[in-house]
Amino acid sequence: MPTMPARGPRTDAPVLAALRSATRQRHEALERLLDFGSIADRSRYERILAGFSCFLAVWEPLVRSALGPAWSDWLAARSRRAFLARDMAVLGVRPLPPPAGLAPALRLHSPEAAWGALYVVEGSALGGQLIARQLSERLGITAERGGAFFAGWGERTGSRWREFRELLEVEVAGSQGQARACIGAADTFDGFSRSFEIALDEHLPA
Ligand code: HEM
Repeated sequence: MPTMPARGPRTDAPVLAALRSATRQRHEALERLLDFGSIADRSRYERILAGFSCFLAVWEPLVRSALGPAWSDWLAARSRRAFLARDMAVLGVRPLPPPAGLAPALRLHSPEAAWGALYVVEGSALGGQLIARQLSERLGITAERGGAFFAGWGERTGSRWREFRELLEVEVAGSQGQARACIGAADTFDGFSRSFEIALDEHLPA
């Protein structure tokens, strides 16, 4: 059987297709906002890390509670927050408070919404591989020196993404489930954008 490409619509993956089309524009906007391709200074990178961290501190418990205790070990094993904490410690980045009203703006009230939200964060590990290379080339930041979050699971990123995509198609059923997942994904992208906008405007105290 031929292997499927990592990206591109698959007729047998309706949930992924729905999530992609619901969030494509948001992903493009976020790529433009973060603009890693032309990142030139370390302080901008540090602010982006602080933006990720303040968002995930609010988002992760909401996802855990929407999925329930049966998924909590699985979630803990996939979380990249420990990498983020390590990077912030290595670079001496101070945490930022999350944007006001973030938790209620994230409508993660059902398991399906949580799966949609997870799509965003799991998917960000794919772009992370490209970003890790840009950080190393542009700023000399490697996994050991403050780039662990984007380096993430390294070579295992692709296989973990495939596992996740299979779960997504099983756990999100029916058109109502898909609609909820799309709301969870869109809210997650919007929450990230707000967190980055604030983090990038904010000058982290030295
Ligand atoms: C400048 C920043 C970013 C760049 C350059 C970027 C780039 C990419 C690339 C190249 C892929 C496809 C990788 C592949 O298929 O092998 C991807 C996928 C993805 N990225 Fe990003 N990304 C960025 C930021 C983000 C952020 C901040 C998020 C979410 C918080 C995110 C969410 C996703 C998702 C959900 C996918 C999976 C799309 C799919 O296959 O359905 N990305 N990104």
